[in-house]
Amino acid sequence: MVKMKKTMLACMLGSLAYMAGGYAVAQDKAAEATERYKPNHELIVAVEPAVGQDPGQVELGKKLWFDPRLSRSGFISCNSCHNLSMGGSDNLPTSIGHNWQEGPINSPTVLNSSLNFVQFWDGRAADLKEQAGGPIANPMEMAFTHDLAVEILESIPAYKEEFKKVFGKDEITIDEITQALASFEETLVTPNARFDLWLKGDDNAINDQELRGYLTFKNSGCVACHNGVAVGGNTFQKMGVIEPYVTDNESAGVAGVTGNDIDRMRFKVPTLRNVELTYPYFHDGAANTLAESVDIMGRLQLGRKFTENEIEDIVAFLKTLTGDQPQLVMPILPPSSDLTPRAKPFD
Ligand code: HEC
Ligand code: HEC
Repeated sequence: MVKMKKTMLACMLGSLAYMAGGYAVAQDKAAEATERYKPNHELIVAVEPAVGQDPGQVELGKKLWFDPRLSRSGFISCNSCHNLSMGGSDNLPTSIGHNWQEGPINSPTVLNSSLNFVQFWDGRAADLKEQAGGPIANPMEMAFTHDLAVEILESIPAYKEEFKKVFGKDEITIDEITQALASFEETLVTPNARFDLWLKGDDNAINDQELRGYLTFKNSGCVACHNGVAVGGNTFQKMGVIEPYVTDNESAGVAGVTGNDIDRMRFKVPTLRNVELTYPYFHDGAANTLAESVDIMGRLQLGRKFTENEIEDIVAFLKTLTGDQPQLVMPILPPSSDLTPRAKPFD
């Protein structure tokens, strides 16, 4: 009898403890779910610092990024058109390529480009590694060939040694060149934007006007296309949903890749992170200011004419998307050897 009471008591205590434990677990789960859903509560997600890149590849990729010897002229590097001192862009309507050629399209920022679902305005490269082979061989950009790029690097003893150390192979190929460039680019993310601090719970990180701007951005429908961690970069959308976009630029958008007329003027939605730094705007670089591009977006994409105050608010919000810019120590590039093919700047 006594024994049974004890057992019952133990059972009761046990189940009480279990219930209490269960309650605590349930509470933890709820907190966890809230935590998990918080990013989705707002459709924009904070940028986190880059992790997991191979440090050797990143250092080598940084050298290649700044090395003009990968171009026919010996003058143009990746940084010429994606200047990391200026938001990863060139701030020109369209880029200047080999022999001062007028480029066909605006240079997108490379900041946070690792967050894009595909690369280029029309998505014709799947990822950064595939993308990085493009500009070297593009006659309108660096105007070189992959073979010549390899030949140049092979002729520079310090590069040869560094490639061997990083990739463990005797031969340099375009594969290692693009891999190193991609690893470096993956580090070019910009965390700690004031808006991200606000997303993470710091109510004072943005002011009233910026918050008002965000709410207008969200409630009027901008966020339908500009969302996720890059505030864009995750879908193709038509430029000119409600009203057609008038431009002299000949880019066909995704139609240039698929050949389908329905894809005409469909572009990868650009990221709005650091957009304050990446003027002028749109694929043709035709909008000089953020106010102008917000006005155009409102009318053409949403059929909505914003007031001047609304535009000012949205612009104020967009400026809270500027994050910590990559802090780089300029790499010292290894010197050419006597065997290194010389540049042909005016060819
Ligand atoms: C002459 C100017 C120029 C040079 C040099 C150049 N780029 Fe670009 N880059 C552009 C332009 C213009 C585009 C957009 C082209 C398009 O979408 O059709 C672009 C697109 C990109 C993109 C895609 C970004 C996005 O959001 O889609 C990445 C990444 C990139 N370049 C990296 C590089 C790397 C790496 C190098 C050096 C190997 C390089 N670029 C050299 C002008 C240049
Ligand atoms: C239907 C999808 C869609 C909606 C809605 C939309 N955008 Fe865009 N946005 C795009 C596309 C696509 C581009 C690129 C257009 C181009 O370059 O031709 C773009 C470009 C931009 C740019 C220029 C970025 C750059 O680097 O060139 C800004 C700024 C911008 N949008 C802000 C907004 C704002 C503010 C709103 C709401 C008023 C908005 N967008 C609504 C799809 C959209």
